[in-house]
Amino acid sequence: METTPKRIPAGLSRRDFLKTAGLGLAVAAATSGALFSRDAAARTSGVITRKVPRTGEELPAIGLGTYLTFDVIPGQPREFIREVMRRFWEGGGRVVDTSPLYGSGEISVGDYATALGITDKMFIANKIWSTGEFLADESHAHRSLEQSMQRLWRSRIDVMQVHSLVNVDVIVPILRGWKKEGRIRYLGVTHHELPYFPALANWVEKGDLDFVQVHYSIHTRLAEERILPAALDKGTAVLVNMPFEKARLFRIVEGRRLPDFAREIGAENWAQFFLKWVISHPAITCAIPATTNPEHQSQNIGALRGPLPDKEMRARMVKHMETIPGFDKLAEMPPYLGKTYNGIIRRAQNLRKEANK
Ligand SMILES: NC(=O)c1ccc[n+]([C@@H]2O[C@H](COP(=O)([O-])OP(=O)(O)OC[C@H]3O[C@@H](n4cnc5c(N)ncnc54)[C@H](OP(=O)(O)O)[C@@H]3O)[C@@H](O)[C@H]2O)c1
Repeated sequence: METTPKRIPAGLSRRDFLKTAGLGLAVAAATSGALFSRDAAARTSGVITRKVPRTGEELPAIGLGTYLTFDVIPGQPREFIREVMRRFWEGGGRVVDTSPLYGSGEISVGDYATALGITDKMFIANKIWSTGEFLADESHAHRSLEQSMQRLWRSRIDVMQVHSLVNVDVIVPILRGWKKEGRIRYLGVTHHELPYFPALANWVEKGDLDFVQVHYSIHTRLAEERILPAALDKGTAVLVNMPFEKARLFRIVEGRRLPDFAREIGAENWAQFFLKWVISHPAITCAIPATTNPEHQSQNIGALRGPLPDKEMRARMVKHMETIPGFDKLAEMPPYLGKTYNGIIRRAQNLRKEANK
């Protein structure tokens, strides 16, 4: 189990430390009653778990992503994040994926995990996107780890992943060192763009990764060709990003009823249909859908219980999707249609757009 730092971490002001510690105390009092309506046994009862192949550690098969959804401009309302995380935790979730690249995403996770009293209980999959000032300069990587630990209020990160394979040849050996020192527990690499899948597969096939994170959904099944078989073969755990294709899947099923056979896998809504499909592949450890909406979180975490499709049912689900107009052209649709995210990332992107007009 993780432990929170006992002293003020380097780089954190005393004021910030006290603010957070005070929040923690207030919450410790509150956790005894109001925050969670279910006890620990009810929280984890019937949950679908998967083992991390390297250690046998069990993880719930539905996690939580934070790209754009947990990125809020300081001072703007962000209480929705508390409720999204509360429902996630109460529904039996534990795995949270974030990155220093996600604007204020890490800070949101750290603040609300503290507020909910679950900082030490979550399984944090974090990332590193790091180069250096000169060849073999590791200082940026070390600063990135320190900053992540401070923002997440953790003395150890569960999985540290090389974000989108950036500087991967240099960073993987650094991660090995951190693992030996106990600063991280597992190491991995990520990507989401299909042209990088061969490079991702090469890393898995080498056999020294604990985790790989890859884009996989009922629509985008390319990972089945090399990455997932290699992960099974080498004992690499698999996290799945973009299980909803950045909301595109919901757009094409809008106004459509679920097929009757969805009852056989206990899917009560489209979110559970898509997620149960993903986590029923034998190589998958955990899917990490993202949301800003507490109701959506309840749907998503609902996929963590009940039956899963077998091979035949998985094929039937794909066949059904293929009858829906737009499924074959999904990749051409813009992401997040109809959604507005107003964080640090979007603000910077919009400023750049304005400047280029
Ligand atoms: N290279 C990398 O390392 C990499 C790349 C991509 C993603 N990731 C990770 O993977 C996570 C997941 O991927 P993603 O966020 O890109 O896409 P995603 O999870 O496929 O889709 C997120 C979108 O789905 C919507 N959504 C979620 N639940 C819903 C529900 N029940 N009903 C209707 N709409 C729903 C969300 O909108 P609402 O806010 O309205 O719910 C959001 O717009 C990321 O957050 C990130 O942590 C990593």
